[in-house]
Amino acid sequence: MMILGIETSCDETAVALFDTDKGLLSHSLRSQVALHAPYGGVVPEIASRDHLRCLLPLIKKTLDEADIKKPDVIAYTAGPGLIGALMVGGGLANGLALAWNCKVIPIHHMEGHLLAPMLEEDKPKYPFLALLVSGGHSLLVAVNGLGSYELLGTTLDDAIGEAFDKVAKLLDLAYPGGPEIAKLAKKGDPEAYQFPRPMLKKPGLNFSFSGLKTAVMLVVRQAEKDGTIEKSKSDIAASFQKAAIDTLIGRTLKAAKIHNFERVVVAGGVGANIMLRKNLKASFDGTVFYPRHEFCTDNAAMIAIAGAYRLAEAQEVNEIEATARWSLESINT
Ligand code: KG4
Ligand code: ZN
Repeated sequence: MMILGIETSCDETAVALFDTDKGLLSHSLRSQVALHAPYGGVVPEIASRDHLRCLLPLIKKTLDEADIKKPDVIAYTAGPGLIGALMVGGGLANGLALAWNCKVIPIHHMEGHLLAPMLEEDKPKYPFLALLVSGGHSLLVAVNGLGSYELLGTTLDDAIGEAFDKVAKLLDLAYPGGPEIAKLAKKGDPEAYQFPRPMLKKPGLNFSFSGLKTAVMLVVRQAEKDGTIEKSKSDIAASFQKAAIDTLIGRTLKAAKIHNFERVVVAGGVGANIMLRKNLKASFDGTVFYPRHEFCTDNAAMIAIAGAYRLAEAQEVNEIEATARWSLESINT
């Protein structure tokens, strides 16, 4: 079966073709980063309009590259995400399915992230613990099998990617902030400031990042007053990154220990962070799996492979599904 994956939940328009026999055939992505950068964050209206402009040409390009006329099934991101952006992907997916007489599968964006490591040669076996860290989520999920997800922890306030983006804004760095912080941190001292490692001493497996963000803000304000901000920026970035990564790793190791996991999957945009990848690998006794860098951040290959795993649920074109807030556990089968 040939599955066309469509991802438009936020600020990337992405399309991929996955063959259940041959694997991933082609994938394309158009990033809207440059469009949103002047605003310091994603502007939903601009995102929807750009998906509308770019999605159809990208689908054509992806099909042409693989020399495929039409897929057997279309898998599209139905949520969670920006509602207008989701409606563009869902609308076009269903429209094309009607024209091509093929079936559709609405996919949960976080299930896509969760299954992204399955695109690699070295795939994790079930069960595994997933640390899903993106601009909208910080989740620890017990994955017992496909469609068997148990939420062990989530953030009580900001998502980790959001914290990276907000700290980057405080430091006058470009959007998205995660890669910019990571780049600047290379030149700084991670021990220069002792920022809090939120929640690590608290029971349970939830995260909280707003206190860390406030602690960074106070240091930035003081350095601005003292006129030392320019020379302190790399140290602040390095110390923040270390505190954030220590927190993620601390919680992940605790979850793995309590629930006896031998395998951990890290996915989502923040999963591209080199320090997180290196330090978790070094501190975890079992095996850590990551998708390649380009499949950590939003992409359609993960939506297409999620569609391949959920082929049995392919449905005739009916109602277009688009859900802004949608819990991962609600898709358990
Ligand atoms: O998964 P993703 O592409 O989109 C969402 O579903 O949110 O994640 C985007 C987030 C942004 O907050 C971005 O700053 C962060 O991932 N990010 C990083 C890195 N690369 C992207 N955060 C830390 N280090 C990175 N290298
Ligand atoms: Zn995402």
